Amino acid sequence: MIELRDLHKRLGSRQILDGMTLSVGKGMNFVLMGPSGSGKSVTLRHIIGILKPDRGSVQVDGQEVSTMDRSQLMALRKRMGYLFQNGALINWLTVADNVALPLREHARLKNSEVDDRVMQVLRLVKLDHAAAQYPPSISGGMKLRAGLARALVTNPEYVLYDEPNAGLDPIISHQIHELIAQVRDDLGVTGLIVTHSRACATQCGDRIGILENGKLAVQGTVDEMVHSDHPLARAFLGGGAD
Ligand SMILES: Nc1ncnc2c1ncn2[C@@H]1O[C@H](COP(=O)(O)OP(=O)(O)OP(=O)(O)O)[C@@H](O)[C@H]1O
Ligand SMILES: [Mg+2]
Repeated sequence: MIELRDLHKRLGSRQILDGMTLSVGKGMNFVLMGPSGSGKSVTLRHIIGILKPDRGSVQVDGQEVSTMDRSQLMALRKRMGYLFQNGALINWLTVADNVALPLREHARLKNSEVDDRVMQVLRLVKLDHAAAQYPPSISGGMKLRAGLARALVTNPEYVLYDEPNAGLDPIISHQIHELIAQVRDDLGVTGLIVTHSRACATQCGDRIGILENGKLAVQGTVDEMVHSDHPLARAFLGGGAD
């Protein structure tokens, strides 16, 4: 379980998080929406311990992340995958080597074990045929699937997805949403998904929260949020939203 309680964070001259409270139950996908610059990515960075809160707590399975030392953070990150926008692949490494990176960082595995695990996770995201290709030669959707494979390669209990469908067409986006739902259903992964997309929120979310002025202005189940008449819920999830 991920629990953020009364999180406060000032960056530069702006109070970005101002009493943010959010909890993500085991095995569910929580979707975090909100205007650009509202602090969604900043929130994710607190959960992997890159940023420390000024006040408030960040807990993963009851352990406080904000006071962890380096080795505790390394152990936490082994249990937590992170999917960056556009996959954030390294262009001069093959898809397979990109996916292998977290394993080489965290686990002491033989090369053949690394190769087996990489192919297993590439098959899961249907990218085994592209293992030997380099990122500049594959499409945006394939890059995202490779990024997802990299996030999953250590068999994490949690995955944080930062805009997993930005810049993708609706058909490829739909495939990514199905994959994110499958990761929850088949692997039991708990997800926190940042997105602006109504389709993403409704196709792979269980709960949705909308961040504004440093805290969740409104949250609920997908069904509650889609039917809510809260102005933010209507703006992000109403008929006109995409
Ligand atoms: N390291 C930093 N130093 C100073 N300001 C920062 C830093 N990181 C983020 N910010 C600021 O904090 C605010 C929130 O940033 P964040 O990246 O979390 O927004 P976001 O909600 O993810 O937006 P988007 O939807 O555009 O990705 C922005 O105004 C950003 O400029
Ligand atoms: Mg962001």
